[in-house]
Amino acid sequence: MSHKAYPTDDPAVVTCGLPYANGDLHIGHLRTYVGGDVFTRALRTLGQETAFVCGSDFHGTPIAVQATEEDTDPEELAMEYHERYQETFPQFDVDFDNYGHTHEGTNRELTHDIVESLEADGYIREDEILVAWDPQESQPLPDRYVQGTCPYCGEQARGDECDDGCGRHLEPGEIEDPVSNISGNPAEYRERTHKFFTVSELADYLSSFLDRLEGTANARNQPRQWIEEGLEDWCITRDLDWGFDYPDEDELVLYVWVDAPIEYIASTKQYTERVGASTYDYEEVWQEDGEIVHFIGRDIIQHHTIFWPAMLRVAGYSEPRAVVASGFMSLDGDAFSTSRNRAVWASEYLDEGFHPDLLRYYLTTVGGFQDDIDFSWERFRERVNGELVGNVGNFAYRSLLFAYNNWGGTPDADLSEEVETRIRSALEEFRAAINNDYSTRKATEAGVELAGYGNRYIQNNEPWHLIREDEAEAAQVIRDCIQLVKAVSILLSPTLSGKSEQLWAQLGETGSVHDTGLDDALETPPAAFDEPGELFEKVEDDRVDELNEKLQERINSMADTDHNESDETDEATDAVEPLSQERISHETFSKLDLRVAEIRSAEPIEGADKLLRLSVDIGVEERQIVAGIRQLHDIDDLPGTTVVVAVNMEKAKLFGVESNGMVLAAGEEADLLTTHSNSPLGTKIR
Ligand code: 2FM
Ligand code: ZN
Repeated sequence: MSHKAYPTDDPAVVTCGLPYANGDLHIGHLRTYVGGDVFTRALRTLGQETAFVCGSDFHGTPIAVQATEEDTDPEELAMEYHERYQETFPQFDVDFDNYGHTHEGTNRELTHDIVESLEADGYIREDEILVAWDPQESQPLPDRYVQGTCPYCGEQARGDECDDGCGRHLEPGEIEDPVSNISGNPAEYRERTHKFFTVSELADYLSSFLDRLEGTANARNQPRQWIEEGLEDWCITRDLDWGFDYPDEDELVLYVWVDAPIEYIASTKQYTERVGASTYDYEEVWQEDGEIVHFIGRDIIQHHTIFWPAMLRVAGYSEPRAVVASGFMSLDGDAFSTSRNRAVWASEYLDEGFHPDLLRYYLTTVGGFQDDIDFSWERFRERVNGELVGNVGNFAYRSLLFAYNNWGGTPDADLSEEVETRIRSALEEFRAAINNDYSTRKATEAGVELAGYGNRYIQNNEPWHLIREDEAEAAQVIRDCIQLVKAVSILLSPTLSGKSEQLWAQLGETGSVHDTGLDDALETPPAAFDEPGELFEKVEDDRVDELNEKLQERINSMADTDHNESDETDEATDAVEPLSQERISHETFSKLDLRVAEIRSAEPIEGADKLLRLSVDIGVEERQIVAGIRQLHDIDDLPGTTVVVAVNMEKAKLFGVESNGMVLAAGEEADLLTTHSNSPLGTKIR
């Protein structure tokens, strides 16, 4: 691994966290996979040799628990979902060079080799530990078979992870007040012998590794704190009969988190086996000087920045160059929930007829990769209509059409110095975004802003008037515009993988835009091309209303049927949302103007099942606010209720009714926030 700017002389591999093969994918899951795919394509655009690999995670209690619940075999269950994932990812143009799974021979062999080298180098010790046990079922309770209280933060946690609290990995026996997930009874602790990887001996190495690590800041900061607090050795075996056996042991299987990341190597190896080492050599990447980049969700930072580099180090593999960890994603302000069907499923998105690039664009640009982001159909509409239809699509179409109508393609003129300079600076922004920040968002913005420049350029120069007075001048302007379109198509090709290809063909270019490099952006575009078409379609307002209604109906119908069911399948997206890791300043908070208010009247809105039109007294005036609380509150009880209102929100229109503020409420049941003494209406909340 080098820390040279991309492209380096060494091959790179980009990986994405392996999805547990036990549930359908929703658009929240797609965030890291789209992120990895866009980043891979961006590296290739820079000229970096890169493989993109992933696979399904077959082992561990997530799969075993679900197989028991569904009365099926874990392998069969995992294989079914694995096959679905293999179909789903390409539908979103997430094009892995290899997509394997952890239960394959390649991974088994590599895992055993690596564990044996940890043993050989003296990094494995045996210890008697107390593990949770269900006395009624007379069986051990590894990981997700048990829940209880996190000893670090006091939140409810699963056996091996404090998902909803501090995000820590929990060792067997650490969870307090354990309860069996099989019988629901309090669990006991029993003594068992297990194997430990002595990660604590590698603290110094890991600190220096974190100093070198590139990627998002969250992937360095959290583990630094864990190291400071003192690293514990890591228990790498489980009392379970699903997983890879510990070498030469009959009773123990390896903890899923040992063989899961090793699949990154196995999957790269399978790719090499397919294309040949002369095309791409996985050994060069993993054992010599490759650039290893991991895209993950932030809930698995500890595994990727402590356990995984420790294993790689002892087993003689290269260390990762970067870990890029995404923030949390919510849907319309609340957590995704598979059990409550509170999700936009990947298949559903496509069935609605939306092009995958629209979602790729949204996921890439709605916030920075490590920020928490929210998906709403309304914001989706705004971004598609404003940025893709109104800016990128509009600029490309008007430029290409004018060129086609008047010259049958790119007019014969030299590229102006001004436009060449502007293109060069966009290319530089793209390079810097990838190299300095691992930011696919900034890289994409370089292309979108160039299109914005193009729109202003054509508008200011008015070639439609110019052509009547001075054809050569008009030709010059349009030559510039077509060059800008070409540059935009290359700059946006990582994110808009399909649409940029379409644009490339419209420019009369041959081959694929994905085979071009950044510097091709300044090559002269073809002199002839066909009549262009519009790249993007507007998303209409009523379509958004329809999609919101559909989602709400589904959530409501699930709430009626299995409101109390717990969800074992969703990874860190259910129940209480993890606390945001992004600290905001007091200044940022003070921008939010929150006031004590009172609801004066509430009435239904025609055609909107969940919305109410409220008239709210905020002390200095009465405001009309639309709130999504119709099914959760009795309309007659609302007048006279003291509430808290964010009074300086942007105005919005819902079902044609203007909403001038936001009434604050907690959770799915829209539990209205209130005050507890008699603060006058309009009092500011600090
Ligand atoms: O948390 C998860 O969903 C795990 N299946 C991720 C594994 S990523 C890796 F290290 F393999
Ligand atoms: Zn915790």
